[in-house]
Amino acid sequence: MKKLENTFRKLKTPFYWYDMELLTQTLDIVKEESGKHGYHIHYAVKANANKPILNKMIQYGLGADCVSGNEVLRSLEVGFSPKDIVFAGVGKTDEEINIGLENDIFAFNVESIQEMEVINELAERKNIKARIALRLNPNVEAFTHKYITTGLNENKFGINIENLDAVFSILIKLTNIELTGIHFHIGSQITDMNVYKNLCIRVNKIQELFTEKNIKLQHINLGGGLGINYNIPCEDLIPDFKTYFKIFADNLKLKPNQQVHFELGRSIVAQCGNLITKVIYLKKGTQKEFVIVDAGLTELIRPALYEAKHQIKNLSSELKEQTYDVVGPICESADVFRKDMQLPKTKRGDLLAIKSVGAYGQVMTSQYNLRNIAKAYYSDEF
Ligand code: LLP
Repeated sequence: MKKLENTFRKLKTPFYWYDMELLTQTLDIVKEESGKHGYHIHYAVKANANKPILNKMIQYGLGADCVSGNEVLRSLEVGFSPKDIVFAGVGKTDEEINIGLENDIFAFNVESIQEMEVINELAERKNIKARIALRLNPNVEAFTHKYITTGLNENKFGINIENLDAVFSILIKLTNIELTGIHFHIGSQITDMNVYKNLCIRVNKIQELFTEKNIKLQHINLGGGLGINYNIPCEDLIPDFKTYFKIFADNLKLKPNQQVHFELGRSIVAQCGNLITKVIYLKKGTQKEFVIVDAGLTELIRPALYEAKHQIKNLSSELKEQTYDVVGPICESADVFRKDMQLPKTKRGDLLAIKSVGAYGQVMTSQYNLRNIAKAYYSDEF
């Protein structure tokens, strides 16, 4: 990355830099490892919705996992086939549901009984049948940050298993929806592979509840969540997809002809993104030395929101390391990228790369403090 410093000098900071070669290599592995088991992969658009990134996913034959009407529209616009689009979200509006209905998407991942009824009603008005998967809350601990845990009974996502009987009795009355699958997503940045084994065990049990009712499920969607190495990204630029998919292959009990789907976001795109920022000032406090950069929580909110620690590299210095707090310019005390970080001696004008920002970086930006919107550049355009 240091080699790119001259190129970066010509661009206005802060900006996002996407390593498209790494993305290609990652997708090669995703395809190879999921292909071994015949799994269907939907890319979680919420992680990064930039068109060149989405185009790559299409090139590799991935489907799209969307959580808003606009994500569905963006996916269709760039060329995902509606038959490969799933649509989740606890609060889909009528307008958003209609977008899915009008485009005949693969499935709505339905998160409540009332949503099921509304989809039925809207489909009836159009005289069509909507395919749905029930998003079930399996109550499995994901051992990740509390803000990105989704599969516990206390979380707002999905339908709790205790409500399944009610679902079954309402479902038979809803003639404009077809139940085609079940869906699970228990959280994000999950690095303990045992969690997925536990999920499989739960899913196997839950499947039996459907079998008892003689309900055939065409597909099981296991969501996303595979974590990445934020600490030392260069050691694990491509997550261990082989082990990940194998856990499901070894532990999931499938019915004949049942399809398995996944919704992967972070594990595919996080490592290919970097936030390039320039050092504006150095400032000595009483106990700390601050490196003040021109990117802030407006370009990467993960440290402020989840106390996430992204690796930072100084691209302009190879001097002896010192301890710094790397902070942004925003008027918020939470606008800190890293505390007590070892960086080569840094000076005004140095370029820093904040690593692993390809997922949930650019998509979560804001214009707080009336900031300019940072641009994105792609390595294959240079
Ligand atoms: N499927 C559903 C239903 C989801 O809600 C999510 C992520 C995914 C798939 C993709 O999960 P992934 O493979 O990327 O872990 N902003 C947070 C992460 C929020 C995740 C939201 N849902 C962060 O920066 O850590």
